[in-house]
Amino acid sequence: MTDSGLEHGLGEILIAEEDLRARVAELGREISSDYEGRDLLLIGVLKGAVFFMADLMRELPLPCEVDFMAISSYGSASDSSGVVRILKDLDINIEERHVLIVEDIIDSGLTLSYLIRNLRSRAPASLEVCALFVKESARQVRKHVRYVGFELPDRFVVGYGLDFAERYRNLPYLAVLDESLFPEGT
Ligand code: IMP
Ligand code: MG
Repeated sequence: MTDSGLEHGLGEILIAEEDLRARVAELGREISSDYEGRDLLLIGVLKGAVFFMADLMRELPLPCEVDFMAISSYGSASDSSGVVRILKDLDINIEERHVLIVEDIIDSGLTLSYLIRNLRSRAPASLEVCALFVKESARQVRKHVRYVGFELPDRFVVGYGLDFAERYRNLPYLAVLDESLFPEGT
């Protein structure tokens, strides 16, 4: 690890850039074959999923559209009563559409559970989930995630869209955040 400003605070690299690229391409092939003949609407959750979604979409030789939602959740992973609120809703009406939720990482699953409930009530033709990273702690929602990129241990990671205090999203690989920088209990 160098001493540059960008890499300061990072621990080990969990997933290298070329492994991310290869797995995203595989997911693209799987999704393309599953959705052949159907128009797909990808719904990304801001901000972290934007990076993954942009790469995934370019691996899909299908007619597809994108839309975004921004969500804020109060409460930590250990607080299952946490409230989830929509900060930015979809622009598109998803009724009768084949919808694929694209998430960067699933931790407690609180955000995803809320999103599934919310989007299901809008009567899409189908609703599936693709998450690049799923942590061990997400066991309860794992069954709702049709496409999983990588299973991760319960550690705080950054890069490839994932941030710590809005930083590190631009790293092309996934790294563990240096534990000494990470506040207790979050
Ligand atoms: P959940 O509702 O607990 O599943 O949390 C999902 C959201 O928390 C993700 O979309 C991320 O924004 C954030 N998050 C969870 N774990 C991490 C992590 O290890 N690094 C960065 N962000 C994370
Ligand atoms: Mg986030």
